[in-house]
Amino acid sequence: MQASRSEAQQVLPSQSTLRAVGLEIRPITPTFGAEVRGIDLAHGFDARQFAAIHQAFLRYQVLVFKDQSPMAPAAQIAFGRRFGELHAHPAAPTHPDHPEIFVIHTHRDSKIANGNLWHSDVSCDECPPMATMLQLHLLPPSGGDTLFASMYAAYERLSDPMKGFLAGLTARHESEHVYRGRYADRGVDDTGRVFPASSHPVVRTHPETGRQALFVNPAFTTRIEGLRGRESRLLLDYLFGLVADPNLQIRQRWEVNDVVLWDNRCTQHYALWDYWPHERRGHRVTIEGNRPFHRAQ
Ligand SMILES: [Fe+2]
Repeated sequence: MQASRSEAQQVLPSQSTLRAVGLEIRPITPTFGAEVRGIDLAHGFDARQFAAIHQAFLRYQVLVFKDQSPMAPAAQIAFGRRFGELHAHPAAPTHPDHPEIFVIHTHRDSKIANGNLWHSDVSCDECPPMATMLQLHLLPPSGGDTLFASMYAAYERLSDPMKGFLAGLTARHESEHVYRGRYADRGVDDTGRVFPASSHPVVRTHPETGRQALFVNPAFTTRIEGLRGRESRLLLDYLFGLVADPNLQIRQRWEVNDVVLWDNRCTQHYALWDYWPHERRGHRVTIEGNRPFHRAQ
């Protein structure tokens, strides 16, 4: 059988090639997720190593780099820029010296924790970020895991008639309800600020792999356009519920300085806030993406 375009694009470097560039890539589940060993990102990487990382990123959707040193902001920014331009968050405070860095910090006095619900980062933007890279430098004594769900796998669970129905639909992604006041405890005054909102296809074609992914999430997606209110609510609730299937998930149990890189175009994630009053802190870099589109297959 001839390989499809998406399969062909996901051919991974062979084990011997990986060994030659010093990388070990170990899948977390057959569906998605992989641990990467053999490289310390804080000390840089060469073009062959980056090519292997990029291929693995497209295949596995979530990469967990183990045994890492703390990355200096400049090193983390440089790694992010290998994938594309960096994305500026529409609401969050940034690192005082490096605006490309989003400081993730939750502690005893936090009123709300970042990402404590299923979402794809900033899907409210006209061009939502393609990827996010997070390194955590300080962990609570236990808890603070991050769950990921594959939206390729969620899409593939749907029946053909449902896939056909969703193929022509767009959904509204809004953010004022998410972001207004969210960062007040970190000194952000958002009086008068207008928060992004956009319409995106419910089924998104990944621009690099060609695979179809479900692209609605309970944080930002407020309605499916063209449906009556109750139709939209019922359908969204059904689609949101698909991520709850543990068979579509992986769970990142952080070790200090782990670097996790995830593809927002085909995954969702949920940062658990089960560790209050303990503290959790790290640096995030977010990479710009394209305007989502749907291409029939
Ligand atoms: Fe997030």
